[in-house]
Amino acid sequence: MCGIVGYVGKNAAVQVLIDGLKRLEYRGYDSAGLAILDKGVFSVLKKTGRVVNVEKLARKSKSPGTIGISHTRWATHGGVTDNNAHPHISSDGKIALVHNGVIENFLPLKHFLEGHGFTFSSETDTEVLSNLIAYHYKTLGGYNGNRVIESVRQSLMQVEGTYGIAVLCTDYPDQIIGARKSSPLILGVGQGEYILASDVTAFALRTQNVVFLRDDEIVCINRDEFSITTMEDNRVHASIETVDWAPDAVELGDYKHFMEKEIFEQPQSIENAMRGRFSQDSSTSHFGGLTLTPQELRHIDRILFCGCGSAWHSCLVAEHLIERFARIPVEVEYASEFRYRNAPLDKHTLVFIVSQSGETLDSLAALQESKRKGYPTLAITNVVGSTIARESDGGIYQRSGPEIGVASTKAFTAQLTILSMLALYLGRLRDMSYEDGIRFVEALKMLPQQVAQILNQAEYIQAIAHKYAHHRDFLFLGRQSLFPIALEGALKLKEVSYIHAEGYPAAEMKHGPIALISPECPSVFLATQKSIIKKTLSNIQEVKARGGPVIAVTTEECHFPKNLADDLIVIPHCHEALKPVLATVPLQLFAYYTSLARNCDVDKPRNLAKSVTVE
Ligand code: M6R
Repeated sequence: MCGIVGYVGKNAAVQVLIDGLKRLEYRGYDSAGLAILDKGVFSVLKKTGRVVNVEKLARKSKSPGTIGISHTRWATHGGVTDNNAHPHISSDGKIALVHNGVIENFLPLKHFLEGHGFTFSSETDTEVLSNLIAYHYKTLGGYNGNRVIESVRQSLMQVEGTYGIAVLCTDYPDQIIGARKSSPLILGVGQGEYILASDVTAFALRTQNVVFLRDDEIVCINRDEFSITTMEDNRVHASIETVDWAPDAVELGDYKHFMEKEIFEQPQSIENAMRGRFSQDSSTSHFGGLTLTPQELRHIDRILFCGCGSAWHSCLVAEHLIERFARIPVEVEYASEFRYRNAPLDKHTLVFIVSQSGETLDSLAALQESKRKGYPTLAITNVVGSTIARESDGGIYQRSGPEIGVASTKAFTAQLTILSMLALYLGRLRDMSYEDGIRFVEALKMLPQQVAQILNQAEYIQAIAHKYAHHRDFLFLGRQSLFPIALEGALKLKEVSYIHAEGYPAAEMKHGPIALISPECPSVFLATQKSIIKKTLSNIQEVKARGGPVIAVTTEECHFPKNLADDLIVIPHCHEALKPVLATVPLQLFAYYTSLARNCDVDKPRNLAKSVTVE
């Protein structure tokens, strides 16, 4: 959560910082602020609300400074006020700091600093760190090397918690210090300029050359060069990598919202997830990043999947597919639970962490816990060079391109596609026949055009969304591999339209949720599985008998009875195992249009942040 940007170069820093913050707003948008260092003096602007509020202030101030830091906040310590917005200036006026993360031991440090004459004007943990750096800076008077780097290093050795930071000091008018621990920080290497940011998207239009900083590294940038050292003050030889995201991938183009853009990009993002990953005879898939040999994979007795939110839903689908195709027992855990549960795992367990951002703190912690226990731990991530991608033993990139809308859409269907291909790969290593493999690959290859067919129904689904947008409660019901899609549909609706929605296995409804059924509580049924359609139809009858409105998603081969549902969405016929992918798309459109009908901020829903880097 929170996004930070630091800039040093030849251009006025303000606009670069504002542009960067706007692209990072998905990480938090309670308040924003920036500090420009010009002629040894900080000019600081901060305001609650969106980045645009700071932009308005900046237009008036017209600071010409070419070095500065900025921040968009997702509040943790301290309410949403101008004072609590970053940057935080040390009480002696020397240090300005922006911070993404949480300083857990801020209270004892605060008492210590108060004892040394430092004062505080906010309720944040971050101000403690800016004063701590100022304290060390003062005590290091007469130090021979770079005094700011050393004071940052000494301060970071004292703090417990997580951080991605950018620091300015009035005595060093040309340099920014950055450091990270469990919060992302990336260096963009431009033409005569350097940019520090939480995410590549912040500077994708300026440069695609990046250095992915690692935990416990401290970077110093000035107008001409950068240098990286460890906490032990050893020099790090960093390699500059090129990210291949097209710069316009972070632009809205002709779309009104990123959620809309990303939903409509799915034919392409699903295609990208599959490209080059089928065997020559099209009977199985392969992944370059899976560091285990087929022999090693054959010895796996159990697979554990961990993720959060939508990623967790994709893991639940994987459980069905892998158990069905490969007959390997699969467990799925919330990453946040796994890390503290100390679950006994079988010796031959393989662990997969699924995370779009690759930065979700709970998922990262699950990965670290799994590796600590010695399990081979692979990752499925979208963001190249993200912490989870780098810390895992190997894995698969989603290739979805940047996902900016807070509600995950194209990244989720790419995860489902990759997990379906993984199930195929593992199945073919075991009992799945060549013919079944061929059939499944053919079905996978059809997905992009089938998703496009569903997208052609957008206007129809928009009309349905309008009809139900005034309701306050929804049930989403599906069975087997469609149950996780019911959860996903409910999550999407909750996130972007603030309607209470619950996902349930359809047959579980009669064990409690049926009490909610009334004309005021519509149910969305995923009635796409021919083998159990009669059971699902009975569940729908139960809802109708109690006056509950029903929206059903079905396929032609299910022969859904006319007039049973109040509204019916028909998706193309596809392989049973791929129905989760297709059934997701109408639910995304439904949530998107409901959000618009309710005038919600669809790309930046209240209280949420795209990348959850706190516990
Ligand atoms: O980046 P991750 O995939 O690790 O993120 C996990 C969740 O925070 C994320 O899926 C969240 O639930 C989304 N807002 C869902 O739309």
